[in-house]
Amino acid sequence: MKVLLLGSGGREHALAWKIAQSAKVEKLFIAPGNAGTQNVGENVDIKADDFEALKNFVVENGVDMVIVGPEDPLVKGVYDDFKNDERTKNVPVIGPSKSGAVLEGSKDFAKQFMKRHNIPTAKYETFDGTTVEEGLKFLETLKAPYVLKADGLCAGKGVLILPTLEEAKKEFKEMLGGMFGNASARVVIEEFLSGIECSVFALTDGKNYKILPEAKDYKRIGEHDTGLNTGGMGSVSPVPFATKEWMQKVEDRIIRPTVEGLAEENIEYKGFIFFGLINVEGEPMVIEYNCRMGDPETETVMLRLKSDIVDLFEGVAEGNLDKRAIEFDERAAVCVMLVSGGYPQAYAKGYEITGLDKIEDSVVFHAGTKMQNGKVVTNGGRVIAVSSYGKDKSEALQNSFTQAQKIEFTDKYFRRDIGQDL
Ligand code: AMP
Ligand code: GLY
Repeated sequence: MKVLLLGSGGREHALAWKIAQSAKVEKLFIAPGNAGTQNVGENVDIKADDFEALKNFVVENGVDMVIVGPEDPLVKGVYDDFKNDERTKNVPVIGPSKSGAVLEGSKDFAKQFMKRHNIPTAKYETFDGTTVEEGLKFLETLKAPYVLKADGLCAGKGVLILPTLEEAKKEFKEMLGGMFGNASARVVIEEFLSGIECSVFALTDGKNYKILPEAKDYKRIGEHDTGLNTGGMGSVSPVPFATKEWMQKVEDRIIRPTVEGLAEENIEYKGFIFFGLINVEGEPMVIEYNCRMGDPETETVMLRLKSDIVDLFEGVAEGNLDKRAIEFDERAAVCVMLVSGGYPQAYAKGYEITGLDKIEDSVVFHAGTKMQNGKVVTNGGRVIAVSSYGKDKSEALQNSFTQAQKIEFTDKYFRRDIGQDL
């Protein structure tokens, strides 16, 4: 079968790596891909949200299945666009419909959905420009710190956590005043939850679901979780506190009610659901939903998924995911992200990356790279993900660390403590 994967980051290289291992796949295209995805498939120079060009490509090349990596095309309705076109309506798109992607696209929708289905989450209220006074009053009923969330997509920047009521009130007014443009025209104010976070992933055909290995990502730039937030500096799987008992609570209280809730509300959802969870005194609660896999969690989750991912995708497309097997690798996996110096603030691009051919035992996923005059060069803040197995997380980290030192580019930086706090 011919498969087209949309996206260009480390998550997409990890998905492409796994898809390419399937005996069912004769050809894998990645649009637009990066310098790493071209080693496991063929890059196609089309943007992931250029639906017309994507559909033309699918028709002209006889593509049998489309897998969507990032949220942007999903929130813009790529699933529906393919379905509503006579030429592509029978080509399965793995990812939710536009109405399903709203679980990520609108924080307010996600919170209302959880309330309707009794899914554990922080207490909240949503406000807009007409209810500023009510919002300020609601803030006074909460304890510090204060959590403010722009309703719409803000490339991961729309959540503010403020230590004092005064700052919270000020930022709340600024958010409604257009701090994130239209995305913060509505603001969710919620209770602060204290605990350790964990990312859990399910793949669903709309009725059945399979739970993938859980992972934890490390968002801060500095070791021991200090400094600015980033897109993710690494990940670890499994997560020690996600015991069998804890995961059973997650399934019973969160995953099953979510899948059933979507079906009850006639929301078409055939793809990944990412549950951003927090462990509050042993009880899992939902911080957020995403309508896709996590990055950099995918760079460890794919290492631990033993089954053929394309077989699972076929189960999604055909609505018989319950008939498909899912098996995990018992080893631990750790991903260490090599980033450009300066990231997540200003950084330079275009530095040559060397040493990629010296890597042994680890899997290297490209995040922000591109080919320039026959050389692989840096092309983003997050550049390369080095993922490794180990008998435990310390050994996996050591393996990634050893290999990470062989890869060189100007001002390379990475964290050495991924997974060590757990
Ligand atoms: P989100 O975009 O909703 O995942 O929020 C970004 C980050 O803010 C999360 O990963 C958490 O670390 C933090 N966060 C969001 N909501 C809460 C909350 N209610 N309590 C504590 N931390 C939160
Ligand atoms: N690692 C968090 C995310 O992908 O949103």
